[in-house]
Amino acid sequence: MSQNKTSLLFVCLGNICRSPAADGVVRKFALDANLDVEIDSAAIGSWHIGSLPDSRMRACGRRHGYDFSHRARQVSPLDFDSFDLIFGMDQQNLADLRRVAPSQKHQEKIRLMANFLTDHPAQNSIPDPYYGDDADFEFALELIEDAARNIVQRLANGKPL
Ligand code: 4NP
Repeated sequence: MSQNKTSLLFVCLGNICRSPAADGVVRKFALDANLDVEIDSAAIGSWHIGSLPDSRMRACGRRHGYDFSHRARQVSPLDFDSFDLIFGMDQQNLADLRRVAPSQKHQEKIRLMANFLTDHPAQNSIPDPYYGDDADFEFALELIEDAARNIVQRLANGKPL
């Protein structure tokens, strides 16, 4: 959010499953790569404001060595000034983010997280695991780790996102 640090915002529908996981994974990978990056996550909807991530995603994270402890918040038009890039998890997130963006210029900051997948080339979204089972949470985290690895590598190598 500062002038010189790259700042990334991860957004999903509820900010309790996918985006707090993306926030936590990218944060860890950036730390491991010694990269100074500002990272946050937010929801399209307001239902879960103030909540910790879903207990199933927290458990999934713990199994993989993460501590997902973000408190949900709703995305705001101001985020489009504060952050360099805003990542949605699926096409509906992108459509909603375009509506929140204050201008056409701000819409250019929107990215699809799945476009950064390298090990899952046929996958065009990070599917919502909320109504699914443990396997759906595991798959969402596997996809998030795949995209996060590429995002952090590109940042480290000065490549555009
Ligand atoms: P998320 O999952 O967008 O990955 O956080 C969801 C969480 C909650 C709801 C939908 C999706 N919900 O309808 O409450």
